[in-house]
Amino acid sequence: MCGIVGYVGPNSSVAVLLGGLSRLQYRGYDSAGLAVLGSDGVLETRKHAGKLKILIDDVDASPLVDGQTGIGHTRWATHGGPTDGNAHPHLGDDGKLALIHNGIIENFAPLKQELLDVGETFTSETDSEVAAVLVGRAFRETGDLTLAMRQVVARLEGAFTLLVVHQDRPGEVVGARHISPLVIGLGDGENFLGSDVAAFVEHTRRAVEIGDDQIVTIRPDSVEVTDFAGAPVDTREYEVAWDASASEKGGWSSFMRKEISEEPDAVYNTLLGRVLDGAVAFPDLGGLDDSVLKSIDRIVIIACGTAAYAGMLGKYAIEAWARVPVEVALSHEFRYSDPILNERTLVISVSQSGETMDTLMAVKFAKEGGARGLSICNTMGSSIPRESDAVIYTHAGPEVAVASTKAFVAQITALYLFGLHLAAVRGSLSAAEVSENLTELQAIPAKLAEVLVASAGIGELAGWMADTRSVLFLGRHVGFPVALEGALKLKELAYIHAEGFAAGELKHGPIALIEPGQIVFVIVPSPRDPSSLHPKVVSNIQEIRARGARVIAIAEKGDAAVLPFADEVIPIPLAAPLFEPLLSVVPLHIFALELATAKGLDVDQPRNLAKSVTVE
Ligand code: F6R
Repeated sequence: MCGIVGYVGPNSSVAVLLGGLSRLQYRGYDSAGLAVLGSDGVLETRKHAGKLKILIDDVDASPLVDGQTGIGHTRWATHGGPTDGNAHPHLGDDGKLALIHNGIIENFAPLKQELLDVGETFTSETDSEVAAVLVGRAFRETGDLTLAMRQVVARLEGAFTLLVVHQDRPGEVVGARHISPLVIGLGDGENFLGSDVAAFVEHTRRAVEIGDDQIVTIRPDSVEVTDFAGAPVDTREYEVAWDASASEKGGWSSFMRKEISEEPDAVYNTLLGRVLDGAVAFPDLGGLDDSVLKSIDRIVIIACGTAAYAGMLGKYAIEAWARVPVEVALSHEFRYSDPILNERTLVISVSQSGETMDTLMAVKFAKEGGARGLSICNTMGSSIPRESDAVIYTHAGPEVAVASTKAFVAQITALYLFGLHLAAVRGSLSAAEVSENLTELQAIPAKLAEVLVASAGIGELAGWMADTRSVLFLGRHVGFPVALEGALKLKELAYIHAEGFAAGELKHGPIALIEPGQIVFVIVPSPRDPSSLHPKVVSNIQEIRARGARVIAIAEKGDAAVLPFADEVIPIPLAAPLFEPLLSVVPLHIFALELATAKGLDVDQPRNLAKSVTVE
């Protein structure tokens, strides 16, 4: 987690760094800090526990020395609580060097002991300060910041991105990455470093990926990248597909509200250019050509949280269309379950950020085990696609709110596109069937826009539930992942106990939770569904209604069977069964947002969380 930004150039580094940090806050917001090298040659730092606003107000009230070199950090605490002292930057070389860190240095304890034994002192409980002191000592011996960094990273274990500045090296920022992310932004007479492109997209859209185990030194007019041994490496420049305005609130009260309103566009843009003459047209699936796809005999989808629920929906669709067995595994469980992998196994990773450490490590593990890898990802230049044989980017645009919404519907869309492509390649669906399903998918953006309009009353519904302590969510088949997603959103945003259940499981235990007044959301399948799911779910509603539950049904428009038994019905447009989740999830996103808002909570930055989980 943690957001990192570095700058060298002619402009005010304080302004550039604070601007970058405000876009990176979603990565962590326990504390924030800056180090700037003034034109007087003195290094000054400022840092505070709490949200970035506290730091900004402090800098406004009492300006920092301004210069053209600096680094900034927004923190998600791992080692040591969110205090002023533990906030970054940390200092080395008698306060002449400042360092910021994202990740975890696993061997920090023996390193710290070694430094204590030689008389170094520490002011924080962090693992990061150990790196600051080490780089400071190495610089004192070498007088070369890049070389000092190289010597220190060779001693560190764990996952880290480090940036350092030293007051004897004005106009220079040195960075290193091992597993955790780092990207370069190329400017004109200025250069940037960031945990992701959001750190500098306001200034430049030209970005360069830094590979794993590489060190970068930026100066206003040069960028040098080497491996950890000091050998120069080739880099690849790319253009960031979105501009700064895409990651701004644009008049919305929160990023989350804005991003929910963008759910139709997220699906539309993910389909854009990928459907041609009724067939899926992926311009390039890298190492996953048709002969490889025909040889696959098993698929494992790995992901965490909301992305894993998208994966569950992918399973239903891929199995139905391509007739290949699909498992869904949480990335952090997958790695340790001794999975059976070979070149006929396709591991599909799903990740908005492309940096989730659990998923990244699982992807690497699958690769080492000989499996093929496909990444479904929303962030260009991120680590997970780089470790995969092929990538399908979701084009949801930057997602800033911590809770994933528009990326979720984009992930489902990408998985469905892949499922139809696989079915076409393997001949399990006819061209006409593929085309029919693509038409369903292409109709989703307009239907999503209808759902947004039909959901206008959810704010009022949430308003009278503001004091509720528990909400349950029920669904069957593709409604089950939707129920899980509804519950997750409510937990993380409104801090309410919420559980999602497969409705059929109710009578095997959870029905004991139902007491008078218990709020239960039920995702009702279409009455047109040829399976017998609709009457079964209506029976489930009657069972809980009989025990006093207050039922809110999300049901197809015109579903008369559900009306007598539900206290509220939120209607969704007609869609084929597999496509219903893309519609039924939106009212649940809105409900969580509205309930958290009614409770006066910060929906963009819920407590204890960070957007990009870059620690295991
Ligand atoms: C929940 C949420 C998380 C993420 C999960 C995976 O609203 O946002 O559960 O879905 O942390 O993140 P990515 O997709 O970046 O790998």
